[in-house]
Amino acid sequence: MRAAGRTIVQRAGLGDRSVIAISGGATPRPLYEMLGSPPLRDSLARREVTWVLVDERYVPADNPQSNSRMIRETLFRGGIAEKHRFLDFDTSLDDPSASARRFEETWSALGLETLDIVLLGLGEDGHTASLFPGTAVLDVQEGIAAAVYVPRLGQWRVTLTLPVIRSATLRIVLATRESKAAVVQEVANGVDHPVARAMSGEGERWWLIDRAAAGRLSDVTGTTAGGDSRNEITRS
Ligand code: 6PG
Repeated sequence: MRAAGRTIVQRAGLGDRSVIAISGGATPRPLYEMLGSPPLRDSLARREVTWVLVDERYVPADNPQSNSRMIRETLFRGGIAEKHRFLDFDTSLDDPSASARRFEETWSALGLETLDIVLLGLGEDGHTASLFPGTAVLDVQEGIAAAVYVPRLGQWRVTLTLPVIRSATLRIVLATRESKAAVVQEVANGVDHPVARAMSGEGERWWLIDRAAAGRLSDVTGTTAGGDSRNEITRS
């Protein structure tokens, strides 16, 4: 977590402004608590940062499942810094696709183009963001965000699209706990999981994985199914 925290603060300090996309779920919670507390919060507050939500469960904003709620309770527990903005998904709309379109309109209105950093999680089925195996959103090549129904969860989601994630300057996957060890090994062995697609191609990519999640890695590198580049999967 500390490595991810240091990286985000350091990268946010490089340019005049940063666009940092952050995922939900349980894994990054301690990281966001760290970033939302002194001293990292104060370092970040001096920078111009646009935080972008990577994906959202299509539930009301006050629902305990809401990623936006979790982030407001952790990263923004002291409020959103004056120089910061937070672009999340409006789940009050009846139609998830309308929410994705509104997200895109706001993205354009804010003048956003490319993500400087995208922080991704990893599901045990190999999903990342709300790019779940076997869902049509994996094939969406246009647009910034899309809605997707996930049969396994019986839930609608809205998510950044694969091209937007893959075009980020720095892509980080954060995975902890033994429950992720099997999928981490599968990715290292080249299984074409959505996370492997998100992390393939050129550009800077980091896998920050704790010992428990790296427990089945025989060595420290693996080539994902994308084939076009090696994903260095190392123990953090
Ligand atoms: C979400 C996330 C999702 C998450 C993985 C891992 O909305 O759930 O965006 O992609 O990163 O499901 O979740 P955990 O960190 O809770 O294991």
